[in-house]
Amino acid sequence: MTTVPAERQHVDSAIVAARNRDNIVVAGEIVRHRRATRLIHWSVALTFFIALFSGMPIWTPLFGWMAAFVGGLEVARIIHPYAGVAFTIASVFQFVHWLADMIFRSDEKGWWRPSTLIRYMRWEDEPAVEGGKYNPGQKLFFWAVCLGAVGFLISGIPMWFPLYFPQIVREIAILLHDITFIFFLIGMVFHIYLGTIAEPGTFRAMTRGTVTRSWARLHHPGWFRQVTGERRDNRK
Ligand code: HEM
Repeated sequence: MTTVPAERQHVDSAIVAARNRDNIVVAGEIVRHRRATRLIHWSVALTFFIALFSGMPIWTPLFGWMAAFVGGLEVARIIHPYAGVAFTIASVFQFVHWLADMIFRSDEKGWWRPSTLIRYMRWEDEPAVEGGKYNPGQKLFFWAVCLGAVGFLISGIPMWFPLYFPQIVREIAILLHDITFIFFLIGMVFHIYLGTIAEPGTFRAMTRGTVTRSWARLHHPGWFRQVTGERRDNRK
């Protein structure tokens, strides 16, 4: 357990501490994501949304109106592959940064069985109660977005440089790009919902960097105990 001493807390407030350190208790809050984590996460999100707003109008005229956000359809066509490259680079940073925390533990394997997932979604069961910083659903989401980033990259290259690839490769690439996109977007809708309105107190973990003790105890009890050193039966 790492706790910032009381005499340093007047200068070392939670927000200052959250610049460089996480998994610590400061002035009654818990630092969940230090600045580097937040910068990487928001770089991934920003590049994803630029790629989204430039890609959707190219995909179908139904979303042609979205081109207005990036300066028109011609601009969208030009910037989309570069936004994709930027998204890939940010995703590589995110992958390296989070990898150690996202490995499934032996007691978390099989969590994605439909019966377990349904129990979880109905709030009937909290998986891996003694879990670490991230629950198995978050780990699954992490691996899914990594796979998605690879899917976008390998399908995007033949679409960007069509003259270098045979027709069959170009056609498979278009299909793969579209399928990856559809799954990615569904996952993203759930992710944004869970990270904002569904679980109040979560969004600030990615803005301010900190969460409340009660949020941590409710959503990640194992991590809460690791960070605070509080015992299982010692509820304050
Ligand atoms: C406006 C858009 C987004 C919002 C509001 C958002 C919100 C959040 C929040 C609050 C967390 C921290 C959860 C926690 O500490 O338990 C988080 C984590 C994460 N985000 Fe996002 N995010 C957004 C976009 C994205 C995008 C575009 C990606 C990837 C392409 C992404 C990938 C992740 C991953 C892998 C995690 C860690 C696992 C998890 O908590 O699910 N996020 N996000």
